[in-house]
Amino acid sequence: MCPLDHSEPGPLSANHPSDSTQAAASRIWPSEGYTRAPYWVYQDAETFLQEQEKIFRGPNWHYLGLEAEVKDPGSFKSTYIGEQSVILTRAEDGSLHAMVNRCAHRGNMMTREAFGSAKKLYCVYHAWSYTLKGDLSHAAFSQGLRGEGGLPKDFKHADHGLQKLRLETLCGLVFATFSDETVPLEEWLGEVAHGIRRVLKKPLKVLGYDTQRIHANWKAYHENPRDSYHANILHTFYGTFGLSRMSQESGMILDKTGRHVYFYTKAGTEKKSEDYEKTSSQLRSHNDGLKLEDPSILKWTDEYGDGVSVQILTTYPGFVLHQIANSLATRQICTKGPGQTDLVWTYFGFEDDDAEMTERRLVQTNLAGSAGMISVEDAAVCEMMQHAIGDAQKGQSFIEMGGKDLDISGSSKLSERAIRNFWHHYKTDMNF
Ligand code: FES
Ligand SMILES: [Fe+2]
Repeated sequence: MCPLDHSEPGPLSANHPSDSTQAAASRIWPSEGYTRAPYWVYQDAETFLQEQEKIFRGPNWHYLGLEAEVKDPGSFKSTYIGEQSVILTRAEDGSLHAMVNRCAHRGNMMTREAFGSAKKLYCVYHAWSYTLKGDLSHAAFSQGLRGEGGLPKDFKHADHGLQKLRLETLCGLVFATFSDETVPLEEWLGEVAHGIRRVLKKPLKVLGYDTQRIHANWKAYHENPRDSYHANILHTFYGTFGLSRMSQESGMILDKTGRHVYFYTKAGTEKKSEDYEKTSSQLRSHNDGLKLEDPSILKWTDEYGDGVSVQILTTYPGFVLHQIANSLATRQICTKGPGQTDLVWTYFGFEDDDAEMTERRLVQTNLAGSAGMISVEDAAVCEMMQHAIGDAQKGQSFIEMGGKDLDISGSSKLSERAIRNFWHHYKTDMNF
């Protein structure tokens, strides 16, 4: 499936506009702070508009794609930061550039293509064209005709380029920011950059895409891959077939600001204990009686040599990198109004993978994505939660597993500290 759909702009109204208006009247954060998330924050239309300004156009880095997607000079892709369509280009000299997908003349969208190749960016409305670096190169009829019309004498091409974004890369990932104040990408990622370097160790090769429309607020999904507590409980496939269990060696690493996190599990490192046995017997997620007719999906190789079978990495506010066995993918959160989110999955391997490894990655792609054996439940619970919130007049979530603080230390996955840290940064950015 095409990784994005420009034909359907994000609806800026909430699922229930009248409810949203009522919620706005009581837009007060609970006194407990980041250990609670009020349910109106998942629905309120005014809050959603503020998020676009303060978070998506604010001082954060946003994932745009893989360098491998715009490999050749002249290639481009279009994608989103929040609701804003942006273009990522590879110029003739090999440099990468990011710019708003909007003509500097009268605001027309420059391209509706997800991917393409061009010598220049051309606006169909009045034929202004731009270099692949976003500079205006030609404005049609700028001198007028037969002495009439045309642009003013003081018109300077240099003043009318596309709006450019700052761009940085790490291990083949491309990030951009609207803000001059955002610290350099690696500094911003901090300790979590190690988790990126571990997985993206060689030049990448794209294997395919899957775009999933989730009928829930973007924050409901963003909380999910930060939530190591749910992983071995909700996802029955993980526990039943041993890819990830609470009883296995695992860890959780946050950067020192608490914005970003990754957690990991090592398959085959079972440590049985009395309290684990007692709890796991009550979980639906762990069923030793089930067997796969075709277990080939579970045949993975330890390509990193560290025994880690699952690593899920999340950066604030909308990016996920996963390694589930030999399945590798990025996930990009694209907001589509307060009540809808597109999750763009990009599956990849390495350029030097042999045919057997590529086949293995493709088979294990069935673990992830919109209908994945493991991840199918994530979108389902986000949507169930969005429905259960109802009119959001009252109520709040409770986020005290593993403590009430922002302490980033400790390795237990039985903790919601990454989620508390998310709400802390969210509240700060939004001035709540
Ligand atoms: S809007 Fe692009 S050339 Fe007029
Ligand atoms: Fe999950």
